[in-house]
Amino acid sequence: MAEQTFKENIKSRMEQAKSMKDEDKLYKKDGIFYSTILSPPETLEAMKNFEAREDDVMVVAYPKCGFNWMVGVMRKITTACGITLPERPPLIEFHPPEAQKAVAELKSRRFFGTHMHPDNIPESFKTKKTKMLVIFRNPKDTLVSYYHFMNNNPVLPKAESWDKFFSDFMSGAVPWGSYFDHAVAWEKHIDDPDVMVLTYEELKENLLEGVKKVAEFFSFSLTEEQIKDIAEQSTFKAMQESSQTSHGGFSKVFFRKGEVGDWKNHFSEAQSKQMDEEFKKKLSGTKLGAKLKYDLYCQ
Ligand code: A3P
Repeated sequence: MAEQTFKENIKSRMEQAKSMKDEDKLYKKDGIFYSTILSPPETLEAMKNFEAREDDVMVVAYPKCGFNWMVGVMRKITTACGITLPERPPLIEFHPPEAQKAVAELKSRRFFGTHMHPDNIPESFKTKKTKMLVIFRNPKDTLVSYYHFMNNNPVLPKAESWDKFFSDFMSGAVPWGSYFDHAVAWEKHIDDPDVMVLTYEELKENLLEGVKKVAEFFSFSLTEEQIKDIAEQSTFKAMQESSQTSHGGFSKVFFRKGEVGDWKNHFSEAQSKQMDEEFKKKLSGTKLGAKLKYDLYCQ
């Protein structure tokens, strides 16, 4: 499938979603919800046989942890290194079987991404030891961002209410499954040499350092000047401004507020406590838990 056709295909499926009933927008596979329109069963089935290459660039993130931010950064890094990437959406779980065949023809280096649980990422990424950049975000802000995302895009069903969405998120009844299941699974890989975990919050704290780490991890050689330029072009404000071009009608959906701590405007006292308890149960004492600096960002 040619790149342009693939882009048009995604666009038309998004349009198609507008006339779909909310209850038809998700389906369950192995206990996890996926988008009927963008990740139908045949796409997920074909994805299992995806043939990764050792030098592919792979960005992994639970939804709303800053995936599009890092996609923007990666595109700028590769452009600075003279690589022109196709405009194709990088999520492998959105590539219909024909598009998966087409990417097999692309020359290296290729760029992909996924929101899939690590155990459901195609096996070839592990056997080829493809480097994976994993982005995480504190769970309270992730939940808030996800809530607004559900209410502002045609592909997913609307969150019925804040309280209902809160409990769906906590039980993992949201597309791509439970935040905590993903986090617990990534904890097992945090020291793998092919994995680098960065957090949304550390990127907010020092984007220049973040861009440098990402470029080095994927062995892209950039000058200090190029790193500075990329960091400047990747702030929330800069990306929001350019998102009309990069994300068209979906710019406000992917570039909403871009802040740390918006959860304070949404969570009730009891919900905050419930999340604190879940975090403690699942991630306290873990390396990922420490990286997320929960006490600083979620208290
Ligand atoms: P908010 O909804 O809290 O604003 P994803 O791309 O994984 O869907 O994540 C979306 C979240 O990342 C949104 O969070 C969005 O605003 C934020 N984001 C996107 N670009 C950003 C940037 N350059 N800097 C900071 N946050 C950014």
